[in-house]
Amino acid sequence: MISLPRVRLAHLPTPVHPLPRLSAEFGGPQLWIKRDDLTGLAFGGNKTRKLEFLLAEAQAHGAQTLITRGAIQSNHCRQTAAAAANQGFDCILVLTGSPPKTAVANTLLDQLLGAEMIWTEGEDPEDMLQTTFDAAWSEGRRPYLIPYGGSNPIGAASYAVAMGEFMEQDTPVDRIVFATSSGGTQAGLLVGAHIYNFSGQILGISVDPPAKAIVSDIASLATETSELLGRPKTFSEREIDVNDSYLGEGYAVIGETEKEALAMFARFEGLILDPVYTGRAAGGMIDLIRKGEFDSEDRVLFWHTGGTPALFAYSEELSLTNPTTS
Ligand SMILES: Cc1ncc(COP(=O)(O)O)c(C=O)c1O
Repeated sequence: MISLPRVRLAHLPTPVHPLPRLSAEFGGPQLWIKRDDLTGLAFGGNKTRKLEFLLAEAQAHGAQTLITRGAIQSNHCRQTAAAAANQGFDCILVLTGSPPKTAVANTLLDQLLGAEMIWTEGEDPEDMLQTTFDAAWSEGRRPYLIPYGGSNPIGAASYAVAMGEFMEQDTPVDRIVFATSSGGTQAGLLVGAHIYNFSGQILGISVDPPAKAIVSDIASLATETSELLGRPKTFSEREIDVNDSYLGEGYAVIGETEKEALAMFARFEGLILDPVYTGRAAGGMIDLIRKGEFDSEDRVLFWHTGGTPALFAYSEELSLTNPTTS
């Protein structure tokens, strides 16, 4: 139904399956999961879907170098570096902070994938991204700028497509819960819901920005994405469901919410979450279940957006909860 130029990078459709032991532990709702941690490109994740469309545009522009930015353990940057390697682009990553003594987890993968890494060292990341782009342009490297999180209408369109994929998997659910940050995933899912008639709740658990800082951006992005896809709809802020109750001590600060979610998914289902995004979102979902926000008969889909390699950057924080001695 949706036809946009696309480069194939992901293994699709990603599986959908129930979480029977976790569901039983809570006594309902019926939990399901969609496994975008298995999109496959260098440990996968949600950005692989966005990059399929962003790289097609980069190719159409005759670009040679992909440039983007993110946090030190950015999953988006890791997947961009992998997509660049896969399709024969150079890749420059602008990473917030200073170079670590030892590259671990996503940063190790960025290196392995051959990305050039530029550290902001206290400078404004957006300014530095622009400077890096301008320099690459004047050096004749034909750069293509991928915005933060890959969240523009082309990137977000991939999650409208993903909603179509999910609807074809014939697993009716009442709610979809996932980690939201730059908002592209949420905007895309909302557009997909509009196109493919999904009428359930689409609930983003914010891992970073307060809801009031992102709902208007998500509404605008969804509106623009729906226009791009030829199915225009004006999304209002009221339609954007973001829960920001789980920001804890801030972005990438691992608290009890994340630790418990990681442990529960691992020990009841053998499933690995990441501590920054999916751990926080699953922790929020668990809290909402305990507060009785969902009916026990509800069917709730946790959309796993990946990020698992970041786990290995947080071994110190996470090993504190190892229960083997208890
Ligand atoms: C694992 C993971 N989940 C969720 C998100 C949030 O997706 P979005 O930026 O589209 O809101 C990210 C973004 O980096 C991510 O890495």
